[in-house]
Amino acid sequence: MKAEELRKKYLDFFKSHGHAIIPSASLIPENDPTVLFTTAGMHPLVPFLLGETHPAGKRLANIQKCIRTTDIEEVGDSWHLTFFEMLGNWSLGDYFKKEAIEMSWEFLTGKNWLGIDPEKIYVTVFEGDNDAPRDEESISFWQEQYKKSGMDARLDERIFALPKKDNWWGPAGETGPCGPDTEMFYDTGKIKCLPSCRPGCGCGKYVEIWNDVFMEFNKTKEGRFIPLKQKNVDTGMGLERTSAVLQGYDSVYKTELFNPIIKKIIELAFIRNETYPEQKIRLIADHTRAVVFILGDNKMIVPANIEQGYILRRLIRITLRTLKQIGSPDFVLDKIAKTVIDTYKKNYPELQKNESFILEQLQKEEKIFIRTLEKGLKEFNKMARDKKITGKEAFILFSTYGFPFEMTRDLAKESGIEINPAEFKKEYENHQKMSRLATEVRFKGGLADHTEKTTKLHTATHLLQAALRKVLGNHVCQKGSNITSERLRFDFSHDKKMTAEQINETEILINQAIMRAFAVKFEEMSLDDAKNSGALGLFEHKYGDRVKVYTIYDEKTGEVFSREVCGGPHVNNVKELKNFRIIKEEASSAGIRRIKAVVGKN
Ligand code: SER
Repeated sequence: MKAEELRKKYLDFFKSHGHAIIPSASLIPENDPTVLFTTAGMHPLVPFLLGETHPAGKRLANIQKCIRTTDIEEVGDSWHLTFFEMLGNWSLGDYFKKEAIEMSWEFLTGKNWLGIDPEKIYVTVFEGDNDAPRDEESISFWQEQYKKSGMDARLDERIFALPKKDNWWGPAGETGPCGPDTEMFYDTGKIKCLPSCRPGCGCGKYVEIWNDVFMEFNKTKEGRFIPLKQKNVDTGMGLERTSAVLQGYDSVYKTELFNPIIKKIIELAFIRNETYPEQKIRLIADHTRAVVFILGDNKMIVPANIEQGYILRRLIRITLRTLKQIGSPDFVLDKIAKTVIDTYKKNYPELQKNESFILEQLQKEEKIFIRTLEKGLKEFNKMARDKKITGKEAFILFSTYGFPFEMTRDLAKESGIEINPAEFKKEYENHQKMSRLATEVRFKGGLADHTEKTTKLHTATHLLQAALRKVLGNHVCQKGSNITSERLRFDFSHDKKMTAEQINETEILINQAIMRAFAVKFEEMSLDDAKNSGALGLFEHKYGDRVKVYTIYDEKTGEVFSREVCGGPHVNNVKELKNFRIIKEEASSAGIRRIKAVVGKN
């Protein structure tokens, strides 16, 4: 069964069960600030899962474009993709576990539908913990289904109960609707990797094809699970995976969705069969699909150093590097992209509409990348002067100039220089952790992550509170704070609009502190000592007995500009902020004003 037939059957099946078919939402979330990309069909539906009425009704189904960068390390294996299409059906407070499982079974095994042999299907359910009990209902509903096919589906043989990390689903942004899920796996017939191999094992014997989430809870910022007003079902079936198993393939890359793209890569990169670099070709195909869909999404996202544009840039550069590694000439990425557009334009007309934009952006980014690489080569030569390249230097070449480690290593070898791969790996892994934090999820509560930018903005928030107290008076007190990688947002008690002079004065005070290069230090002390030292802070709750007090001060004169109880992190010296600018001052709520500000901009 080709992917196109699977798409059609899925929608027909759920239509016949009273579902309204809704269009795929954009890959760039419109009203969900918690993620950069739509990672599942449920994202655009969050308000309705929380109780809003959906105009199309309580039963919905669609095919959703999705981007997941959490799997990026696994791309190039047989089953993981950065971009994929997710077939999904939803019950918004309508049917629950019993009907969801019945429908899943009928669609998977029904002769008119996918007709999969029930022997090939294994399922997992939630094993239970402090937040919710073991999902006994799902176990018994599954057993009923297997019984229809004369099978005795026992726990730990056919049905497996697994912990939260496997069988619980919530949106990537930490808070929001969530609940236990039950996952359906297809047994590829491969030999078990270990006697204990079971669904959920990553060896490739059991491939997860569908996930039914039973959304009963809303996870709050404090980590509590509050029962939802309505019980929902949220399901997701990977189109590429299911299509591959139905066609008897052991990899998504063998299907007709990838064949033309892979053929094109092989042709353009002049690959001969003896040296077929399978993983790399798969990665190029996967990433090219993702960048085509991001560029073609009508939102005109372009390569950049922040947010969606940053992920886009990373994907493009990894692809360009990988193309180089397999010996491809320059400027073939746009041609591969053209093949992606042709493969998908029937189902996704926006790709055709935005074709010239997509191709131009790819050519432009490749030119920029080539220049960056040239600069990197100069930098390499400088570094190589002392006949040694440290892991840190190799990492700078990687992160700033886009040099793959292998390239640096080969260059070093040519110049008779040693590099220590372990040192590079350590730097790289540290950075990976950081960039994960920085790019996957936008905000987790108040502070998004600990990257450089947000750290600067965090310090700027302290400067701001202190400056406002100097300009407006000591009634100014922090009421809220939120930092993204671009700006700070600070809510404070004050009951009048600030005048232009007051805004100006505040900026001047802060910029003077920056120019005078005030230092930042912290001391640990008891809560009482902190209070007595005059530190600002929310003393009532939040903090334990011992707290950290951050002071921003003039090292020469000892003059204190700001002192606050805070967990950190902060910059060491405010000169790192370069400059500070208020971009907005507005009312937040009664008696509370809100300021948005940026640092390091001209
Ligand atoms: N949201 C769930 C998932 O992504 C089901 O659609 O797996």
